[in-house]
Amino acid sequence: MNAPADIKTVNASQPDPVMGYRAFTLGSFHFRRDEYFAHIAWSTRDLRPMSHSMDVGAFLRALMRDVAWGFFYGWVNFDNVVGTVNHYDSVDLFAGSFNATMKEVDADLLENFPTEQIRSTFVEMLDDWTNAGFDPFAAAQETGTPYGRKNGDNKAATHRQRELAKRCVGLKGDLPLRTDATGALVNRAFADVAQDEPELHPEPGFEGEVHGFNLFRFLSRSQVTWNPSFTSVVKYSFMCPTTEEHILPIIHGNDRVEWFFQMSDEIHWDCSHRDTGKPLARVIMKAGDMAAMPAYCRHQGFSPKRSMLLVWENGSPTLVYEIQKGESPEVPVAF
Ligand code: PHB
Ligand code: FE
Repeated sequence: MNAPADIKTVNASQPDPVMGYRAFTLGSFHFRRDEYFAHIAWSTRDLRPMSHSMDVGAFLRALMRDVAWGFFYGWVNFDNVVGTVNHYDSVDLFAGSFNATMKEVDADLLENFPTEQIRSTFVEMLDDWTNAGFDPFAAAQETGTPYGRKNGDNKAATHRQRELAKRCVGLKGDLPLRTDATGALVNRAFADVAQDEPELHPEPGFEGEVHGFNLFRFLSRSQVTWNPSFTSVVKYSFMCPTTEEHILPIIHGNDRVEWFFQMSDEIHWDCSHRDTGKPLARVIMKAGDMAAMPAYCRHQGFSPKRSMLLVWENGSPTLVYEIQKGESPEVPVAF
């Protein structure tokens, strides 16, 4: 059953009289926040009460991405306990289900929801729990505090969606180039990035087909971090560059191979097994390096200074099922 896109389907309490925040219920999961933490509670199948707490800034940064990315590809782990799995017409919410230790002692719970039901609950929670002055997409040094009692909201930030080009940034009718005039100022870390655009000389009649733009200039003006946008789309090949600073707020679990091209500076990746969390590799990527994340891994990036990363996604809607049936590989190359 698909719930209508209506916030009345959201199960929320009245605001807490002291903290000012509402509590939310989604299936058997309960969410509440206080000044510093998000607290998630559930019961095991044999009815033991369980709970988990996360720093509320980390929680809101993860929640923001899960909402804005429409639950992304595969797993969005908020940390090593709580997260979502996208099945593309429904979404699992879980606690401990992909944590080997919690699974072993049956402390885990996973429930499936129609996408619209979990989406509307997450949107309401994000709006209610994000205070004025805190932007969950901004770098930690470029925004106010997530902590404290309820103090307004920041809907301009929490309703931001990622930018998806239909063909190529700057093509007529597609995403515009970024300029000072649109408020997209050059980030402090990219003051040395050249701001010229390429010359284009298409043959008459091909003006809407031949195109180029300065990707470094475009990225130097990104106002957000860890938010891959689509800048070019060729069939299912999506070029999703992004600027990164501090910690990727989610641990992404793949359901397909995904490529990273480090275009400037450096990012350190912790990679572990998608299903258990067992550590697999640490990948130090410097400018010019490329890496592929296999379909069985989860990964989290650490960017010591703002950097430019190109995420290359295969957006084929059938790929995940081809991998499940063994028709497509889980790794980009077999040695
Ligand atoms: C990823 O999970 O692969 C990912 C997500 C967001 C980014 C970069 C990488 O900004
Ligand atoms: Fe990823």
